[in-house]
Amino acid sequence: MIPREIIEEVTRRTDLVALAGSYIQLKKAGSNWVGLCPFHSENSPSFTVFGGGQEGFYCFGCGAGGDAISFVKRIENLEYPEAVELLAARAGIEIPEDASAARRRGPDRSRIREMNKEAAVFFHSVLMNSPQAAEAREYLAKRKIGTPAIRRFYLGYNPADGYALRDHLASKGYTPEEMTAGFLCGRSQGGRIYDYFRDRVMFPIVDTSRNIVAFGGRVMGDIKPKYLNTSDTPAFNKSKTLFALNYAKDFCSDSLILCEGYMDVISMHQAGFQNAVATLGTAITEEHARIISRYTKKVILSYDSDEAGTAATAKAMKRLGAVGVEVRVLRIEGAKDPDEYIVKYGADSFRRLLEDSLTGFDYRLGKIMSGINPDIPEDRLKAAGEAAKLIAGYGSAVVRDTYVAKAAGLLSVKPDSLASDVARERRRAARRQEREESENAISAAQYLGDRVNPESAGNIRAAAAEDTVLGMMLMYDEYRQAAAGGAVRLTEDDFYTSFGKKIFSLIIGLQKSDGGFSFPVLASELTDDETGRLEGCRVRRAGLENSMGIFESAASVLAGESEAKRRGAEHLSLDEILRRKREGTGFR
Ligand code: CTP
Ligand code: MN
Repeated sequence: MIPREIIEEVTRRTDLVALAGSYIQLKKAGSNWVGLCPFHSENSPSFTVFGGGQEGFYCFGCGAGGDAISFVKRIENLEYPEAVELLAARAGIEIPEDASAARRRGPDRSRIREMNKEAAVFFHSVLMNSPQAAEAREYLAKRKIGTPAIRRFYLGYNPADGYALRDHLASKGYTPEEMTAGFLCGRSQGGRIYDYFRDRVMFPIVDTSRNIVAFGGRVMGDIKPKYLNTSDTPAFNKSKTLFALNYAKDFCSDSLILCEGYMDVISMHQAGFQNAVATLGTAITEEHARIISRYTKKVILSYDSDEAGTAATAKAMKRLGAVGVEVRVLRIEGAKDPDEYIVKYGADSFRRLLEDSLTGFDYRLGKIMSGINPDIPEDRLKAAGEAAKLIAGYGSAVVRDTYVAKAAGLLSVKPDSLASDVARERRRAARRQEREESENAISAAQYLGDRVNPESAGNIRAAAAEDTVLGMMLMYDEYRQAAAGGAVRLTEDDFYTSFGKKIFSLIIGLQKSDGGFSFPVLASELTDDETGRLEGCRVRRAGLENSMGIFESAASVLAGESEAKRRGAEHLSLDEILRRKREGTGFR
């Protein structure tokens, strides 16, 4: 594992305010910083960075919490050692050789990436040079993909025999287990290893750090399925990856074009629109939306003009709207997707489509209008109701006024009436949001409490005392010394939950070690959820009074409860829990 000096050095040298601030917008609030949580969807900020950033972060909405390492680990979807490496590199700290060697032997993500790279080089050189790939070269030519685009996207081809890649990878020292774990090969019932992608044009999927994380493979004829894709592997998470973002990220300061397919993206880049990306055969996820919001403020949706594309457009508008990205919608006529459009009508026509793309409002209002007959008064009323709901969703009063005028004109209704409907919708929505947010916060807290420490529900009094003791020990050396040195009588056995036992003994172990206690070192032994749970204990405790007297009394509650448990006396029924709750016993 990574030496503790490194873990501590990395945390000490990382300014969490600057780090988190590079992903989300933080505002100063007293001595803390707050912003919209990057780990769940919310409309009012519950994500908090404490103190000057050295003390950690906690989200009061979803319970995510921890130190700088936990933060990058979560947000970049990294393994623990990779998160440390990333922060070390950022802070200019060198990690000793043996530690990074240990990492390479650990999770096989980097090995799979290396294997993918090997495979991509193989596919590409087959496509460019092999007689076996003649048909594939013709296919791409027929689809108007030129050599520069083939090179830039590093397209490839895998022969039909089923063993070409396998044999190549074996000659480079990859094992059958690695080939199947990386989703490049399958294993037959008889145990034979065979290539998963056969007789397909290969599209490597590259992440923003230029790792080849997955592949898509297209048949050239009419065989189904048209595309095969790597499913999730240790190196690939489909719901967080966007095809061509590795290129588009440098061209999207003004806007990003989001479309459905590999071919659409490649066509667009080839035609000069290098800000195009695609989700990989899935609808846009919340993670996609969050990632996109880090790179651009405006997205032009260019999904296929069929029914599936329309549904995907609606979903994307919602997801992107939720993370504050402005959305426009491209209207493609005369072709089913951007690729076909560009091949048929050329880049200049496509540029005009982009310029004429509709604002999210016009697109939605158009949808509402197309569903009604404007000559029928009832239809117009129905549409006015829908328009009011739509307009109510916009935060700016000036924007709402403009849209009211526009919609009222189209629907031939009085602007004032529409405006008052909008106002009513806004009041309704505000009430609904308030209710939902408090419900979400409660259920997130309960869910998290349950998931990390399910036993706490069995004895609320003991669980509350545990949180008190642990929160105080996490914050102040005084209480760790008292517990470790025996000044306050408290042992692992006194804890009611196994989570409490584990954390207590880890804290005491660190306290007695040469380096002493350190939160980052403790967190290195825990899962993200466990770290978040502890950060929660600490944060709650920080808002309350702390003294040796309170510490002692919580410790004695634990001792008393564990004594009662030994005698088999305490077994709380739900009624008893509720009674104590009413009377306030066991709750602080
Ligand atoms: N897709 C997939 N599996 C399929 C079909 C589609 O993964 N069986 C994904 C691919 O990422 C594809 C995207 O969905 O690029 C869009 O599908 P589609 O519009 O059918 O394909 P195109 O990209 O238009 O491909 P082509 O033009 O080559 O037909
Ligand atoms: Mn297509």
